[in-house]
Amino acid sequence: GVTRHYKFDIRLHNVTRLCKTKSIITVNGKFPGPRIIAREGDRLVIKVVNHVSNNITIHWHGIRQLRTGWADGPAYITQCPIQTGQSYVYNFTIIGQTGTLWYHAHVSWIRSTLYGPILILPRLNTSYPFVKPYKEVPIIFGEWWNNDTEAVINQALQTGAGANISDAYTINGFPGPLYNCSKETFRLKVKPGKTYLLRLINAALNDELFFKIVNHTFTIVDADASYVKPFQTDTIFITPGQTTNVLFKTKSLSSNAKFLMAARPYSTAASGTFDNTTVVGVLEYNHDIKPFSNSSIKGLALPPLPAINATSYVANWTSKFRSLGNSQFPVNVPQTVQKQYFFTVGLGTDPCPKNQTCQGPNGTKFSASVNNVSFNNPTTALLQAHYSRKLNVLTSNFPAFPLNQFNYTGPPPNNTMVSHGTKVVTLPYNTTVELVMQGTSIQGAENHPLHLHGYNFYVVGQGTGNFNSATDPANFNLVDPVERNTVGVPAGGWVAIRFRADNPGVWFMHCHIEIHLSWGLKMAWAVMDGKLPNQKLLPPPLDLPKC
Ligand code: C2O
Repeated sequence: GVTRHYKFDIRLHNVTRLCKTKSIITVNGKFPGPRIIAREGDRLVIKVVNHVSNNITIHWHGIRQLRTGWADGPAYITQCPIQTGQSYVYNFTIIGQTGTLWYHAHVSWIRSTLYGPILILPRLNTSYPFVKPYKEVPIIFGEWWNNDTEAVINQALQTGAGANISDAYTINGFPGPLYNCSKETFRLKVKPGKTYLLRLINAALNDELFFKIVNHTFTIVDADASYVKPFQTDTIFITPGQTTNVLFKTKSLSSNAKFLMAARPYSTAASGTFDNTTVVGVLEYNHDIKPFSNSSIKGLALPPLPAINATSYVANWTSKFRSLGNSQFPVNVPQTVQKQYFFTVGLGTDPCPKNQTCQGPNGTKFSASVNNVSFNNPTTALLQAHYSRKLNVLTSNFPAFPLNQFNYTGPPPNNTMVSHGTKVVTLPYNTTVELVMQGTSIQGAENHPLHLHGYNFYVVGQGTGNFNSATDPANFNLVDPVERNTVGVPAGGWVAIRFRADNPGVWFMHCHIEIHLSWGLKMAWAVMDGKLPNQKLLPPPLDLPKC
C-alpha cells in the first residue's frame, strides 16, 4: 500500500437549508465532508486542525485500527479532544477491509454536520468479486436541525426530556422538495444501461431508515466493508452507523426520464413521537444541464416505503445478510467461545433533579444503560489510563450478565432506575467472545443499532422474544454469518454476535442512536496485549491531545 495524506481544517461554514442560513462545523468548509479514497492496505495520515471554539475528535467509523487505538477517535475513550487552535494527526492503516466506511465527529452532537465517506477500493491489481461498476456514488443519509444541535442535546440532558426531532432528513446534505421552503435536492445523474456502485451510509443521528427508488432494484454486495452473498431488493433498510454497497443497474432508456427516490424512518415506538417525514431525491437519466427546479418533478410518483413500524420487514431484512465466504474471503467466525456475555440494552430512568420537571416515565429523567449500568464519561481518556495502568479511572467490573432477571419483552419492571459507572470488561488477548444482546422494552421497545469500535463481529443469531440460552444457540449460523460493525438489536428481541479479541486497546461499544448514546447506552472493552511484539498496542503518538 501507499501512504495518503489529508488535511482536515475544522471550521465554521454558512449553509442554507429550509430557507435558513446557519453556521455549521465542517471539514474544509464542505458539507457533507470531503471523501477519503484509499485502497485496502494503504496508510492514511490525516492532520486535523481545530479552528472552532468546540472540542473536536474524529472517529473513522468501522476502520479496524489494528494496534492503533490512539487513532480511533471517541472522546474520553481513546483520546482527549482536540482543543481550539490545536491539531492531531490520525495515522492508521486499512487492513483487510474493502467497501464503504465513514468518518464523523465523536464528541457531543457535532457529528450532525461533521461527517463524510471513506471509500476503500480493492488493492492494486485486484478487483471486486462482482461486475466492475461504471461509476461509484456515495449516498449519505443525514439529519438537519434548524437549531444548533449542541443546544438541542444540552436542553434534552438538562430537562430530562427526549431531544427535539430534526427538521429534515437529508441525502448528501439535501432535504428535497417535500419539506417546507426546501430548494436543495440530491440528483443522481445516470446514463442508461450501466451498472453503478452506490455506497450507502446512514449518518443520521437518531433514525433508522428505509430507502427506495421508484421502478428500480438494488443488488446488495457489501455491508460495513465486508462482502456479502449478493441479493436483490427494491427497498433498503439501514441503521445509523451502518454502510452498505449496492449494485444499481440503470434501464436502457433514451429519454431524459426522472424517478424519485425517498428515505424515511423506521421506529417501533409510538409513531406519533417520531418524525416520519420523507427526504426525496431524483434519479435523472440523460440529464440536461438545466439547474434543478422542484417543478421539474411535479407529478412523479413517490416510492412506496414500508410502514414506520414494519418490524417484521426489518427482522426479515437483517436475516438476509450472509458473508460472501469463499476461499479468497474466508469466514473466521469462532467455532467455540471462551467468554460468554449477556447484555440488556435499552432505556431506563434517573431520578429527576430537585426543582426540575422531567419528562421521562412517572416524572423521572430519561436514561439508558447496558446491563443496567449507564456509562459515565471519564474526564481523561480510558486508553491512556489503560496503557499507563492508571486503573483508578475505570473499573474492570462491568457485569457479564444483568443483575436482575426479568421478562425483557413483557411489561417493564416497576423499578427502571439505572446505576452509573465507568466500567469496562477486560479481555485477555485473543479471547473468543460470544455476546447476546437483549433489547428491553421500556417506553415502547425500539431497535438499538449497537456499534463496536475496533472490531468486526459475526452476527450468528437473532430472534424475537426472550433469548433462550438452552435452545437458541442450536440455531446459530457458524458457517456464513455476516460480518459487521453495527447491528440492530431488535425491538423486543435479541441478537448474538461473536468475535475474537485480537486488537489490543480500549474499544467503545454503544447504541448509534445519538440520544441513546448521550443517555448512557454505552460501555467499553479493554483488550490486553498479547505476548508477541506484533500483538501489542503501539505507543501513543507524541501529539496525542491532553485533557
Ligand atoms: Cu460511528 Cu462510536 O461511532
